[in-house]
Amino acid sequence: MRQPLIAGNWKMNGSKSSAESLLNGVVSGARGLSKTDVAVCVPYPYLYLGESLLAGSSVRLGAQNLCTEAGGAFTGEVSGSMLADFGCGYVICGHSERREYYGENEASIAQKMVRAVESGLTPILCVGETLQQREAGETESVIGTQIDGIIERIGIDAFDGIEIAYEPVWAIGTGMTATPEQAQAVHAFIRGRIAALKGPIAEKLRILYGGSMKPGNAAELLGQPDIDGGLIGGASLSADDFLAICQAGEQLAA
Ligand code: 13P
Repeated sequence: MRQPLIAGNWKMNGSKSSAESLLNGVVSGARGLSKTDVAVCVPYPYLYLGESLLAGSSVRLGAQNLCTEAGGAFTGEVSGSMLADFGCGYVICGHSERREYYGENEASIAQKMVRAVESGLTPILCVGETLQQREAGETESVIGTQIDGIIERIGIDAFDGIEIAYEPVWAIGTGMTATPEQAQAVHAFIRGRIAALKGPIAEKLRILYGGSMKPGNAAELLGQPDIDGGLIGGASLSADDFLAICQAGEQLAA
């Protein structure tokens, strides 16, 4: 069994004071966890706070985006090396909100993944279909195209050591969770796609589920053979809820 990873994606939420109490709450609650990896992907302005409050704990710091370029005249952008400088271990690449609102596509996402790895960060590559695509029976072709678009650009070996998050767009922030069977089917499809090219990479690849994962549904989802963790949005804004999901991972890993 792959060690579960539970990662919080705070999105554009919080304030200095709420970030501080959330980070402190996660650090103290995560102390007893030994079989689950935990990370929080915070907004850029709270990275410094995250770096200092997570120091000495097992909770890893992550960011939600990075620039396609390594540095220079790119006003408003943040590079992978800056994230690493603040102690980040992870960076989310290609979240559906960035694909939809900021025009990210396989070309820019692949470039960001390269920059992340160059900076020593682990990319969390997000893929997922819309409700319309699911209802049209296109789920596998959409996800397959998203994965293949990255492989074509940076090669299958770039998947060695990264994390993938399957996030059905229709389940994000809607309270509509994929059933464990629906999620498992897509996770198995993703692993199969990678396995067809490199079996050993597929075998160790962690595929996280994201989309309204909560304390009440986490155990069932995480209990599926190809679901290796969660990328948690709304529930990661409450230390208690986030830690309850981490506990579900810990119990299954035990
Ligand atoms: P929710 O958990 O709020 O549905 O968000 C999921 C997500 O987008 C994590 O990246």
